[in-house]
Amino acid sequence: MNISAFGCGKVILFGEHAVVHQHPALAAALDLGVSLTRALPSAHLEVLVDGWTPTQPHDGTRLGEALARIQRTVTDALGPIPPTTLHMRCDLPPGAGLGSSAAWAVAVAQACCLLANPHQPAPAHLILQAADAAERVFHGNPSGVDHTTSALGGVLWFQRGQPHTLQPLDIEPIPVIIAQIEPGADTALMVSRVQQLLDQAPRVAQPLLQTLGELSRHARASLEARDLDALGRWMNIAHGALTALDVSTPALDAACHAARRAGASGAKLTGAGGGGCLLALAPPEHTDAVADALRQQGALLVSITRAGHARRDLALTPGAP
Ligand code: MEV
Repeated sequence: MNISAFGCGKVILFGEHAVVHQHPALAAALDLGVSLTRALPSAHLEVLVDGWTPTQPHDGTRLGEALARIQRTVTDALGPIPPTTLHMRCDLPPGAGLGSSAAWAVAVAQACCLLANPHQPAPAHLILQAADAAERVFHGNPSGVDHTTSALGGVLWFQRGQPHTLQPLDIEPIPVIIAQIEPGADTALMVSRVQQLLDQAPRVAQPLLQTLGELSRHARASLEARDLDALGRWMNIAHGALTALDVSTPALDAACHAARRAGASGAKLTGAGGGGCLLALAPPEHTDAVADALRQQGALLVSITRAGHARRDLALTPGAP
């Protein structure tokens, strides 16, 4: 079957964790992600990602439960999905803060929509609804920023609420260095660590989360003015606040300092933390030195790329449910 489906990876530029608690975040899509490579008729709906265990709805795994939720959401809206094996490729390190689970959910949801109704483009609102249902299996209380960025692409201003505030920013992709410093931790665990601190010491945790939200506001203004030096400064402060919230690690802290020593204007962890990836911003003349410094810190992967990959195939229709 000739269909194409893709979920972008993402980096959270500002506001991770704070966004769970209704503060604003800035996130940017990557051109790496999860893509459908082949869709072949078969006896069941099944997802095969290279290197991962095959997944079927309700197979007792978290992926299987997530797939069942996507199947149900799409079927309720568009009718039955013909039994198909979806062969997919994931270019993202799993569980490292780059949104691999959201990218998987978005790509699978888009493929399921196209299988259920090959005569119309997959509706973005339905993909978001199905991916949200899947992300709840992985993360319990996701803010929605990961799968929204994965589906809509670009650079997004996102604030959780009823409904969410969602503003695509009209800015050029940002040159960044992404480094995976160590394996990531479970997002749900890191989110619950912040919740515990909020319960135990609200007057300590709340100002930190508020600071992270304020940094998103400052960063948005700096991004719109294309002031990457100022953006780097906000990143360094954000990393400090995330460390204070106890979601960083000694290795992430050391790598952020090494990146700054090598000429980065800013470096911070990105995503849920507890390991995983950092994001650094450097002027072009220092980019290679920063990437080398991160390799010397033992980074498992270093990518010099651009954050804010636009995708034009999925767009929200005003007034869609
Ligand atoms: C994970 O990429 C971002 C967190 O803020 C969780 C969420 O927003 O759901 C830590």
